[in-house]
Amino acid sequence: MRKPSLLDNIPRAGTADLETFRREHLETQRPGIFTGLYAGQPIDRIRTTADARRELGDLEFPINPDYYSTRVRGRANESQVCTLATYLDLAASNPDLDLLCTEFRMPAKMRATFQPPNFLALGVKGRPKVMMYTAKQGLFAPLHFDGDHRQVLFTQVFGRKRVMLFPPRAAEQFKPTGIDSDLAVQDLTDAGKRRFLVKHGGFECVLAPGETLFIPKLWWHYLDNLETAMSFGVRFHLSPYDWLLSMLEPDYRLQEVAGRLTSPDGRRLVDPDTFADLLAPRLGGGPLRARARAYERALRRAYTGRGEVAAAAQALARPASHAEVARFGDYLRRAGHPAAEFARALRFFRIARTPDRWSRLDLRVLNFYFRVFRAKGGLL
Ligand SMILES: [Fe+2]
Repeated sequence: MRKPSLLDNIPRAGTADLETFRREHLETQRPGIFTGLYAGQPIDRIRTTADARRELGDLEFPINPDYYSTRVRGRANESQVCTLATYLDLAASNPDLDLLCTEFRMPAKMRATFQPPNFLALGVKGRPKVMMYTAKQGLFAPLHFDGDHRQVLFTQVFGRKRVMLFPPRAAEQFKPTGIDSDLAVQDLTDAGKRRFLVKHGGFECVLAPGETLFIPKLWWHYLDNLETAMSFGVRFHLSPYDWLLSMLEPDYRLQEVAGRLTSPDGRRLVDPDTFADLLAPRLGGGPLRARARAYERALRRAYTGRGEVAAAAQALARPASHAEVARFGDYLRRAGHPAAEFARALRFFRIARTPDRWSRLDLRVLNFYFRVFRAKGGLL
């Protein structure tokens, strides 16, 4: 039976032009579904398993257990190589098959069947990374984010796939370890998945052959193969800034912070202070352990700083009562903000609230807090 979409809340932009993609998806980091990105190219002729057998039957790739079993639950990651034709035979004849092509650099034979979409011209100049995926009906990719920090144009070749996406800020709720989540989303019923999506501000669609989903960088994703399916992802080239960040240990806090340090197109560094804070301990000299501790402190500062300040900004987004003003002080004190962090908080306010909307009350609140912080032991 064909499973319906759960939320179907990702806009279908059809054959969007470059400007629409830039304005409504890349700059705002919002997902979208596109069609016709490969129109007229050989890859576009493959829409069914029969087409794939004919065109790519002898394509070789490795198959493994899913990432949840190996990375989260510690199952041995035994790999074997097979052809696409063999895998389709196995998938059709063996209902217990639990091996899939989790991710594989696309072989030249398949890579030669298309040109990367022109959307990539809006990112950093350079060669994209192209990965392919093949899985039997019922297998899944567990909830995770991509540690390479790249934006992805994810295309369905044959078979339908349910894709769930979550913005980085949801990570804290996902029991994250590295790039993985300890939550077994695959074990939820459809109703449970729907509740999970709604609870964490998720997006969901069922991707059909010929459709391409834009996955913004560092977003969490979970994928269900509703039918035996093949997909591929064209991954934007990285700027040196994003590349350096991707070299740090994968961590959900870094993931949350990193997405805001560079511009959405990856070309500019928008928060050089925090970027330098994070990179300095790694690039500088000194004992390894001291540098690791300094990095952890910088990461904690950047992460809690953003969360707390965002919450404080929300509290002050409307005329503040004394209680709300007091809460702002609590946020900063609880997080143990040093002077630099408080200065950063103020800069955040100046960015978050356009200067012409600053009221006399805003100024009084800030002046009040300058006085409180001075009185509380020379923080400023
Ligand atoms: Fe992924």
